[in-house]
Amino acid sequence: MKMSLADLRKNYTKGGLFKKQLKINPLAQFKQWFEESVKSEILEPNAMTLATINGESKPVARIVLLKNVDERGFIFFTNYTSRKGQNLADNPWASLVFWWAELERQVRVEGKVEKISDIESDQYFNSRPIGSQLGAWASPQSQVIPNRDFLEHSLDEFTNKYENKVIPRPQNWGGYRVIPHLVEFWQGRQNRLHDRLCYSLKPNGQWQIDRLAP
Ligand SMILES: Cc1cc2nc3c(=O)[nH]c(=O)nc-3n(C[C@H](O)[C@H](O)[C@H](O)COP(=O)(O)O)c2cc1C
Repeated sequence: MKMSLADLRKNYTKGGLFKKQLKINPLAQFKQWFEESVKSEILEPNAMTLATINGESKPVARIVLLKNVDERGFIFFTNYTSRKGQNLADNPWASLVFWWAELERQVRVEGKVEKISDIESDQYFNSRPIGSQLGAWASPQSQVIPNRDFLEHSLDEFTNKYENKVIPRPQNWGGYRVIPHLVEFWQGRQNRLHDRLCYSLKPNGQWQIDRLAP
């Protein structure tokens, strides 16, 4: 049977989104939606698309995992010398997108990116399983490598090096915080008349909420 992509469509009926229901702060609103997505048993609700800008002003996107939301922003962890790390060193602005299909919800975030403190990165690194800690040492993320064996050997080397020792955080591995100036909440509705409510940060530090056409 031939599949027609053009005929793949779904009507969204799960709910609506109204300004009066929203919290004043988008991070508080995000936390509420995130808790609802966890309760809905969505597979990896913290998976988010992270878009950065490369040195030729072209967008580059990939998925990373949200690991914390604090009062300032959205935190993820990675290799600082990876492609995304280089993009962010050159141009510290990023966009995030979450898609929670089971709830018919999307969240978009735009903001400035900063490295979190070494102490915060250490705390998270130390909480990771040993295999993940060793993986951070073994993988020169984003670099061309000759073959799979290279990684396996590298992992063996670091496993031997740190046997029965506390594994320190690699200096080139840690967290970033995306500090939002725009956060949009999208709820799918019938007939493509979806609800979009967008928070934007005004110069006086207040968040303005606007409804956008879908
Ligand atoms: C579900 C999922 C979660 C991921 N989480 C992370 C993450 O938290 N940090 C990370 O560095 N890469 C993560 N990755 C891998 C990235 O998508 C990407 O391959 C890697 O970070 C290299 O990207 P870059 O070359 O653009 O720097 C994840 C991939 C998937 C599919």
